[in-house]
This record gives sequence, structure tokens and C-alpha cells, in this order.
Amino acid sequence: MLLFLVLGFTSAWKITATLNPELHQKYLQPKDYKEVDYRSPIPIIDTLAALQLGELLFHNPQATLQGSCASCHKVEKAGFGLTQFPIGNRGDFDVILSHYQDGVNIDVQDVKTPATANCYETDIALWSGALGAKGINKDVSKMKLASFKEQNALGLDGIYTQVFVGGDVHNITPMIENCKDVPFWDEKANKAFGNKLSIYNGSIAIGMYEKSQVTSQSNFQRWLRGESEKLHSEQGFKIFLEKCESCHTGSQFGGNVIAEKIGKSDFQGRFILTGDINDLDMVKAPQLYNMKDSPTYFHSSEPITLFRAIKRHGLTTTSETWKVRSFLVNDCHDDSMQRYKEYCKMN
Ligand code: HEC
Ligand code: HEC
Repeated sequence: MLLFLVLGFTSAWKITATLNPELHQKYLQPKDYKEVDYRSPIPIIDTLAALQLGELLFHNPQATLQGSCASCHKVEKAGFGLTQFPIGNRGDFDVILSHYQDGVNIDVQDVKTPATANCYETDIALWSGALGAKGINKDVSKMKLASFKEQNALGLDGIYTQVFVGGDVHNITPMIENCKDVPFWDEKANKAFGNKLSIYNGSIAIGMYEKSQVTSQSNFQRWLRGESEKLHSEQGFKIFLEKCESCHTGSQFGGNVIAEKIGKSDFQGRFILTGDINDLDMVKAPQLYNMKDSPTYFHSSEPITLFRAIKRHGLTTTSETWKVRSFLVNDCHDDSMQRYKEYCKMN
């Protein structure tokens, strides 16, 4: 079946990708923020206003103990972090303080900061895939352990669930509490959702902001739309279809399938949600755009090269690894992610 698809695509490439509906249907991303399906649980009155609110909250360090979301997720780097182990931007201060004062709550995570780019269709969030009530998490009876039960019970997808978990773990709740009843924030929320700022609509705005960050200006996407004449690495794309796509699925190349972990760590993966021994060490195969922006690889955040990260899967020869790496680096990189920090400049 896979071979048939690969051969089928190959013959059409020579003509142009825009004439191949099958390629389109599988890989075409939303072209810009207006095309994203936000699947919001509350009515959106003005999408741009909601994204502006989300952008401000995402970058807002106000009242959080631990620094803004953007202190770990660099939007211009597709949401990856700059350091091996993420630490909120009050981090240095808190680390020093914690030597002198008990109970200082420092936001340090022991896994790699994943991308926020290309999460527009992510059913399951986190490396363990533990957040969300869609896709493989649909069967709630499998969520045997207490972790995230309350937030998963909201019935939302991974990203919207994550923003509610973030209420506790990253202090979104006190941050939004602090903004409530301030005319500036209430006006923004009113324009976006027709209500004053609340924990609920503020969290959804952050989730929408994340979903809007699509790598649609990459050469692969431009080629699919007929705006670019050719791929830099056609061969790399073929290898990708043959050896990678089964786990790194869909137009985001990942985000919805779990498989055995590759990085070395004590992390138990999806087991933390289900308690099922078959889920031990199973982690999410993440999206694969803008990989060269990531300083480290795998949930365990290993400071290795992208070449090594691909090779560690044990699926490709050295020459295939270079080709598929070239496809990821040259065709699947959007150089202009900075635009997602500029909603507030738009009217
Ligand atoms: C201290 C650094 C840090 C801060 C601050 C931070 N994050 Fe994260 N974020 C992470 C790490 C690390 C993970 C992966 C955790 C895991 O999988 O267990 C993550 C995971 C996520 C995910 C899931 C992505 C995926 O593909 O599964 C989303 C969405 C997200 N964060 C959004 C946010 C939002 C919104 C905020 C602000 C309220 C925020 N983060 C603040 C480090 C951070
Ligand atoms: C059997 C499923 C599976 C296949 C097939 C697969 N991957 Fe992966 N991939 C994963 C999983 C799971 C992870 C996360 C592993 C971890 O964190 O320990 C991953 C992680 C990655 C990463 C690191 C991403 C990051 O954000 O750190 C890259 C790069 C990658 N894969 C590329 C590829 C390429 C290229 C291929 C094809 C040659 C491929 N993968 C085939 C499951 C797969």
C-alpha cells in the first residue's frame, strides 16, 4: 500500500504538486492564520482580536512567578527553547533564591521544550501524549491514573487542554486573575469573544494563538501550493514517505501517534496516563518542521545533531539520512516565524 502511494506520487511530481489532489489533501497546511480551524469550544467574534489577546498573554510575565510562556517557547524559533532544559525567565533569580528560601516555586522542566508551531490539529499534547480527549485519548476509560483527569474531562483537544493545565503548572491562572477587571484586557477580550476577560476565554485565546503558528512559508508548502517550482530534496521526500511518515503523520508530520521512546531517560511516557504496561516508554512522535531551530532532540533533550537524531531511529542508511535531513532542513523550514509575534501590529 505504502509502496503504491509512493510510486503514485512520484509520477505526479514531475508535472506539478498543485495537480495532485492526494498530496494536497495529506500535506497542505493552512496558508495563514485565517485558514486555521480553531475548533474553539466558545464562539469567536473576531479571530484577529483573539490572536492579539493570546499573543499578549503568551508573552506576559505579569504576576507569574515563573516567567512568560515565551520565556521557554520562542515563537520565532517555532516555539522551541534556546536551552537544553527549559527554565522560566525568572529562572536564574529563583535558582539563587531557592538556596536561601524554602518553597520557592521554580519553573524548571526536565524534558525538551516542544514546538508550539504546527499544533493546529494536535489531538494529544505533551511528550507523553497525556493531554487531550481526542484521537488515541478518546477512550476515557483508559485514563486510569489521576494525572490531568480534571482537564481531560473538559473533552477538548490536546492544545486547548494544555492551556488549562498551564493554569496550574505555569501559573496562567494568577496571571489572568491579575489582568481581570483592567479595562485594557477586558476590551481585548470583549472584542474577541464578546465577554470580559476570564480564565476560560483567556486560556482559549492562548491556545488559538499557538494553533495559528503554521509553517506555511516553508518551501515544501509553497511547492504544494504551486508557488515554488521545485523541492530541494525530492529524494529526501521519497525517503520520508517510505520510512518516516507512518509515525510522523499528517500535514504537521507528527503530533498524533505514539511510539517507543528513542531518547535515553527515566521518562515513563504514556504509562503516566493509563497505567498500562504496554504504554510504558511510549512517547509522542512530534511534528518535524523547523527542526534546525531546535537546540536539542528527543523528549530527553539530547544535545546532538539533527543527523544523529534521524540516524538514532535505525531506519536509514547514512546516504538516506543525509537526504531526509536535507528535505527537513531545506524544504521543511519556514524562515519567517517572526510574523507570529506581530499580530498586535495588525488591524
Ligand atoms: C519553564 C519552561 C516552560 C514554560 C514557562 C512554558 N512551557 Fe510549555 N512546555 C515546556 C515543556 C518542557 C513542555 C513539555 C512537557 C512535557 O511533555 O511533559 C511544554 C509543553 C507545552 C505544550 C505541548 C506541546 C506539544 O506538542 O505537546 C504546549 C501547547 C505548551 N507547552 C504551551 C505553553 C504555554 C501556553 C505556556 C504559558 C502559559 C507555557 N507552555 C509555558 C516548557 C515550558
Ligand atoms: C516508529 C515510529 C517512528 C518512525 C517510523 C520515525 N519516527 Fe521520528 N520520532 C518518533 C518518536 C516516538 C520520536 C520521539 C522520541 C523521543 O523523544 O524519545 C521521534 C523523534 C524524531 C525527531 C526529533 C524531534 C524533536 O523534536 O526532538 C526527529 C528529527 C525525527 N523523529 C525524524 C524522523 C525521520 C526523519 C524519520 C524517518 C527516517 C522518522 N523520524 C521516523 C517516532 C518515529
